[in-house]
Amino acid sequence: MKDFKKDFPLLENNPGLHYLDNAATTQKPGIVIEAIKRFYEEKNANTHRSIYSLSEQATNMLEDAREKIALLINTNPEEIIFTKNATEGLNNLANSLSAEVKENNNIVVTELEHHSNFVPWQQLAKKKKCEFRVAKYEDVLKDSAEAIKKLVDSNTSIVSFTHMSNVTGKILNVKKIVGMVRKKNKNTIIVVDSCQAAAHLKINAEELGADFICMSAHKFYGPMGIGVLYGRKELLKNINPFLYGGNMISKVTIEKSEWAEPPGKFEAGTIDVAGIIGAAKALEYFHGNYEEIKKDEEALKEKLLGKLREIKGVKVIGHEDKGYGPIVSFTVNRIHPHDLATIADRNNVCIRAGHHCAQPFMAALGVSATSRASLACYNKEEDVDKLIESINQAKKMLG
Ligand SMILES: Cc1ncc(COP(=O)(O)O)c(C=O)c1O
Repeated sequence: MKDFKKDFPLLENNPGLHYLDNAATTQKPGIVIEAIKRFYEEKNANTHRSIYSLSEQATNMLEDAREKIALLINTNPEEIIFTKNATEGLNNLANSLSAEVKENNNIVVTELEHHSNFVPWQQLAKKKKCEFRVAKYEDVLKDSAEAIKKLVDSNTSIVSFTHMSNVTGKILNVKKIVGMVRKKNKNTIIVVDSCQAAAHLKINAEELGADFICMSAHKFYGPMGIGVLYGRKELLKNINPFLYGGNMISKVTIEKSEWAEPPGKFEAGTIDVAGIIGAAKALEYFHGNYEEIKKDEEALKEKLLGKLREIKGVKVIGHEDKGYGPIVSFTVNRIHPHDLATIADRNNVCIRAGHHCAQPFMAALGVSATSRASLACYNKEEDVDKLIESINQAKKMLG
């Protein structure tokens, strides 16, 4: 097992911290923090706006970061748009795609979605007075591609679904779903929320075949405030821009405005260049260590599952097979997740408790909240052990 912990200053500065809330946000490696700092110390200038050399250097750094991210996810730089986060990417998309949705159309999502990939589509469906179809959790569990396919018909304008559930870690077979949806309706626009998946799987845009893929850099060891939105070139050329303003135009007159080519068309205003440089560094770090990370996370996930299942009264949600990432939700008989999280915190264990911004999923599971432990490359068996100790303490106190 490689010692990734030493790469993360926060973990080095907080010995004894057991950080198991990685699905909410990961810690940042020193090289990412350093890259952001270096930009401000050495290259800070507004990009695309000037012909002086400092601004050109800043622009080159931004475009290098875009190229790096494009290369890592196997696509072209023109297909990478930077947003504030996945939530903004999804909301922007829902607004931009509004013109593509007609009254007799329907929009398809699943019960497993994070609110960020549920509410924008629900609201768009309401606005366009079209049907909002939601694939059932139990159907997704059986066969995610079948579950979604059965809701798609000739009137389906958009299908949007999670790549990896932020509640249970369930992985959906994106390639198969895309293939099945395309077979049924080649005009359906397919959006994938890879927010969690991008921290545990290598995203390959070409292989997945979706039209849009959303991610948040802070989930894959990058800074907060940077979203990566992949969009297929032909669609980006045709859809409306998200926001109006500087950088996104090619010509403005009193009568009308013309848009810049993508990705500029979708990046109005000054963007967080330092953060984007940090995001590229983070993705490089993750992909560079991918095999090791995947192996370590999988082994630790199995240990966590084994130890949780040994405790009487603990119920793990899902994980009946290997088709899950290292995100584990569980309940403990007679103990509210908030109480468990409070007791865990006394042992310096950070876990999340609540509905995880997935209330329709909670409703499908028949619970109002769960406890969730989610792993990252730097987690070790001692983190799992401290969580198990906390659960046992909570049971003694409250169970
Ligand atoms: C699956 C999924 N989608 C979307 C989001 C939203 O991410 P952000 O808050 O970075 O926009 C999250 C955040 O937890 C998530 O887990």
